Amino acid sequence: MVQRGPSQPEEVIDSSCEQDKFKRLPLSETLTKKPETFHAETIIVGGGVIGCAIAFELASRGQEVLLVEQSEIASGASCAAAGMLAADSEDFAHPLMAQAAYDSRELLHKHKEQISALTGMDLGLRRNGFITPFRSYGDLSKYKDKRNTTSGVQQLWWDRSTVQREALWLNRDTYGAYYRSLESEVLPVSLTRAYARSAEMMGARILEGVQDVQLIVDKHGVQGIKTAKGEMCCKHIIIAAGLHGEQLMHQVGVVLPSSPVKGEMLAVRFTTDQAGGRPDRTVYAEDVYIVPKANGEVWIGATSLPGRKDHSVSANSMQRLLGAASYWVPGIKEADFVRAWAGIRPSTPDGLPYIGKCEGISGLYAAYGHFRNGILLSAITGRWIADMVEGKSAEEIGIEAFSPERLNRKGVMS
Ligand code: FAD
Ligand code: GLY
Repeated sequence: MVQRGPSQPEEVIDSSCEQDKFKRLPLSETLTKKPETFHAETIIVGGGVIGCAIAFELASRGQEVLLVEQSEIASGASCAAAGMLAADSEDFAHPLMAQAAYDSRELLHKHKEQISALTGMDLGLRRNGFITPFRSYGDLSKYKDKRNTTSGVQQLWWDRSTVQREALWLNRDTYGAYYRSLESEVLPVSLTRAYARSAEMMGARILEGVQDVQLIVDKHGVQGIKTAKGEMCCKHIIIAAGLHGEQLMHQVGVVLPSSPVKGEMLAVRFTTDQAGGRPDRTVYAEDVYIVPKANGEVWIGATSLPGRKDHSVSANSMQRLLGAASYWVPGIKEADFVRAWAGIRPSTPDGLPYIGKCEGISGLYAAYGHFRNGILLSAITGRWIADMVEGKSAEEIGIEAFSPERLNRKGVMS
């Protein structure tokens, strides 16, 4: 069965988090009666993990915030992700990405406590560590040669006998592995919904099903948005619409390109009899990742298909992913297939996200283009955008490298 994204575990989620119980404003009544009453200091466009994390951060600082989502919370790329917080394993070429990834992973652990105290919701966030295994000394050498991040990564080398002792379920022929104990993973839809729910509990308003968003700007800057449900005024607009951010920016003449990179994944489940073969930590190999989740499933990913926007899942991709996964974790061959899905990563020309103010239009901010790491970078993106809305500059925060204008300055888009 092919679905848009993985289902989330009933057993780890408080029932208040179920989508159909998600608190929504009565759109049709409120907006058709008095559209002019809709005002917020800040409007966020997009209810993926990035938009919801920003809403959470702004609301926690007492800011007045309204989030509009064209469909449902967590219906875009955020519902397709594996949920790995792979700060030490991803090998970021840019030092700011490496630092942001590390800080965001740690911030997510703090948010877990805050969210849990506020809502009682469980994010399925766990710090079980990741294993990067190698078939041979030659493979290990090649890996070391091409890795950008040589310092600051917290890792241990496990030789063959340590691997065999610590990971009984891993291929017995494994030459050795890096073990990165701080790496964590989360249920991405649970995280996104929990951010939205917590933001609401702190006073944010979340509107789903808001279509045809048009940005309203004049010579003074941002004035608000026009939508199929009415007009809404604000001082700040944050575009957190993932892959669709580019189109929204186009409306006001801002060019911030983003391109799709499709990823396919699948889930398997081990029965009680097969439990001995089930991984208890994420395997982050060069050819595949295998992520045991808090809902009892094991997620396997992912392909990377630039330029593809469709959500089909090919038999060939499944064969490749399952072949690689069952090499590392042989027990996967016996596990039950649950489902497969595809999602679209929002990439940018230089691989860095757009996070910051758009020069030339006062009050307009970009927060999209997080490519392979939007779940990981959600917490820090929320913090930085909130800092900027409160008046800090990108320079003060130290994130000029993510500035939306950087490609123009470098002449990439001239
Ligand atoms: P989205 O989740 O796409 O949210 C954007 C939202 O904006 C959508 O809900 C959309 O409906 C809404 N929207 C769009 N246009 C409008 C409009 N005009 N008006 C109103 N709303 C609008 N990241 C990790 O950190 N770890 C992982 O392990 C990981 N694994 C991945 C595996 C796969 C297969 C894929 C595809 C991605 C993975 N990612 C992972 C990347 C991650 O999913 C993305 O970086 C992240 O979800 C982007 O979040 P977002 O909020 O920017 O975008
Ligand atoms: N970060 C994992 C992926 O995008 O596939």
